Amino acid sequence: MLQSSKFLLLLIFTINYSSSFSTPLNMSMHSVNMKHILKWTPLSCSTVNYTIQYQGEFELINLNGSWVNAHDCQEIIENKCDLTSDLAFKSDYSIRLMTKCDGEKFWTQLPTTFNRRDTMLVAPNMTVAIEGDIIQVGFSPILPDMTVRLFVSIKGVEKNYSTHVIGMFPYHFSTNVTHGGEKMCFRAEVFVEDINKSCYIDTQCVTTKITPEFAIPVMVSIAVVIVIAVAIILGCSAKRFGPYIKQNFCHREPLPSPLLELPPNTFVSCMNNSSEQTDPLVVAPA
Ligand SMILES: *[C@@H]1O[C@H](CO)[C@@H](O)[C@H](O)[C@H]1NC(C)=O
Ligand SMILES: *[C@@H]1O[C@H](CO)[C@@H](O)[C@H](O)[C@H]1NC(C)=O
Ligand SMILES: *[C@@H]1O[C@H](CO)[C@@H](O)[C@H](O)[C@H]1NC(C)=O
Ligand SMILES: *[C@@H]1O[C@H](CO)[C@@H](O)[C@H](O)[C@H]1NC(C)=O
Repeated sequence: MLQSSKFLLLLIFTINYSSSFSTPLNMSMHSVNMKHILKWTPLSCSTVNYTIQYQGEFELINLNGSWVNAHDCQEIIENKCDLTSDLAFKSDYSIRLMTKCDGEKFWTQLPTTFNRRDTMLVAPNMTVAIEGDIIQVGFSPILPDMTVRLFVSIKGVEKNYSTHVIGMFPYHFSTNVTHGGEKMCFRAEVFVEDINKSCYIDTQCVTTKITPEFAIPVMVSIAVVIVIAVAIILGCSAKRFGPYIKQNFCHREPLPSPLLELPPNTFVSCMNNSSEQTDPLVVAPA
């Protein structure tokens, strides 16, 4: 039993050792959303630094197969480097890494070439903000040459949607259907033409706020209540302070009593129209 587990351990060690030996430094490219980062296993040396070089089709064909130093990846200590600005063309790139370990120098090459179309497209985050009937849709991050097809459905009715093809971010649009308290759902397809890849952003739903259009009657009602309260107080004061105050604040003729019995609707529109005037129309004691 003990013997066999020892054998297994040895076997695992041998496999691990041989695989790491066949791919020294285990170099790999991690490219997501057009951001290319080369990573490798650090070496245990007392002093170590790394230098990256690349060779695209241009260097191969026109520059006699010369290698170019990656801009920010010269004699670095870290075991990763961002090659986004270096690998900027539609080309197959060979990539190699020079390790300086305790004064010794050796090269490792990435087993396959890298092309930016190999990048993995991960759906950006979508944010939706509704302000009145203006809707703002934002995406983060924004990728170069990104086009978004935005599907907007109202009241969650998926088959009844409108489509917006967007190239400018954030994107604003107006809708005349947001009466407030409505459910609006958004989903998107992101396409990056350069790499011929697309991905989808899951449906997000928001409930629109009550728009000012609907808020106005509420505000008017509150204003009316305040005006009435003020009027009553003033009316009381007028009674208390007698003719002098009355002359100043109530210079209108007392209203005939039928007018005071008008239905509230008429009253509201009246107060609304005369909101700039200061005459408390209802002061007149009945
Ligand atoms: C090599 O790198 C890959 C990707 O980063 C990783 O999944 C794997 O475990 C690594 N292997 C070794 C032996 O370090
Ligand atoms: C490429 O090599 C040829 C001959 O070996 C030489 O004549 C030419 O100048 C070289 N070109 C460059 C860009 O180094
Ligand atoms: C990188 O390593 C080499 C050799 O070990 C050394 O000469 C050089 O100074 C190092 N570079 C940096 C930036 O530390
Ligand atoms: C883009 O990708 C689609 C599907 O993956 C393929 O059918 C189409 O031919 C590609 N277009 C180009 C220009 O490579």
